[in-house]
Amino acid sequence: MREELLRIMPEFKLIKDSQIQKKTINVWIEAMKKSGWTFDDLRQMPFTLLIERTSVNIIEHTRAVARCALEIAEVFGKEYDEKIRVNRDYLLAGAMLHDVGKLFEYKKVKGKFVKSEEGKLLRHPISELLLLPNTGSPRK
Ligand SMILES: [Fe+2]
Repeated sequence: MREELLRIMPEFKLIKDSQIQKKTINVWIEAMKKSGWTFDDLRQMPFTLLIERTSVNIIEHTRAVARCALEIAEVFGKEYDEKIRVNRDYLLAGAMLHDVGKLFEYKKVKGKFVKSEEGKLLRHPISELLLLPNTGSPRK
């Protein structure tokens, strides 16, 4: 599972600290296991349910957000010099995890992704916190 995640979201490899990289990937692995989604599901999963028939899936969106975050950090670095320091690994980990909780927000009904019962109760910014170590699990 780890190798496939690295293959479809190579931005994980941009996290230089091996422990942060490993933990970030582990959150995705745990989310996939607990939610039951496959890699094929992720390739079909829209990044949002708020836009009807979006062609951008959650993988493409996560990758784009990570790359945008890096570009923004680079501009900040050039424009603000030493006034604002961005920890690149934290930034990337946050970008890679920012929507992972959506795996619990969705369910598939007749081939269509819709809001799950869990998703109606708990949006992804909160369910993501529950995936972090020592904070519990949205499925428990
Ligand atoms: Fe997002």
